[in-house]
Amino acid sequence: MPAFASDSAHETLDTKEKLLIDQAIFAHQGCPGALLGILETVQAANTHKYLSLPALRYIAGATGIPPARIFSAASFYALFNLDPEGDNVVCVCRGTACHTRGSRGLLDKLCLDLGLSGHESHENSEADKLALTTADRRVTVRTVACFGQCALAPVVEVNHRILSHVNERTLEREVKALTQIARPRDSMAGPGGNAPQTKNDSVSPQFQRAGLGEGRK
Ligand code: FES
Repeated sequence: MPAFASDSAHETLDTKEKLLIDQAIFAHQGCPGALLGILETVQAANTHKYLSLPALRYIAGATGIPPARIFSAASFYALFNLDPEGDNVVCVCRGTACHTRGSRGLLDKLCLDLGLSGHESHENSEADKLALTTADRRVTVRTVACFGQCALAPVVEVNHRILSHVNERTLEREVKALTQIARPRDSMAGPGGNAPQTKNDSVSPQFQRAGLGEGRK
């Protein structure tokens, strides 16, 4: 069974973060699916919208839920991030309708423009989950299996705004605008650190170091 390896990770949570987690646990106490609710709340409150190892450890300690179960939930659901998210999120649909209308090319161009690599290994699977973040953490590129807007294919979501019938030119324009705007999170950087992060189907480096989990599903 995976186990949390280092007690020192607890120390990176400050009092405010612990209080927030305590409140999330209290709010979901006795509710069906309480763990998922807690994880969702904690992630939403994080500046970089991810679940840090110290946060997961703290949740385990405070709830008595086995760490392996918590990590399994956090790594299984696409909703949860184990690495810090960029200031902006661009999500490319890789469902069948979007794929047949060129979403693969859009993804390739997007990653090329942003200097991201690592998406090439996903080329044989339309719906494989992917999440890559630029080194400056301005943009995270994700893929999704389907937005449920197939008639508008190819579909790309930019910061929760759905764009329809996207072509390379419109996507390039959107991304250019994103990379030129100010970074509101700079002044609020939390304990997640500033290291460039990549998330795909592998376990986050911090969790690998801690000896947790078998891998993201
Ligand atoms: S396949 Fe892209 S929205 Fe459904």
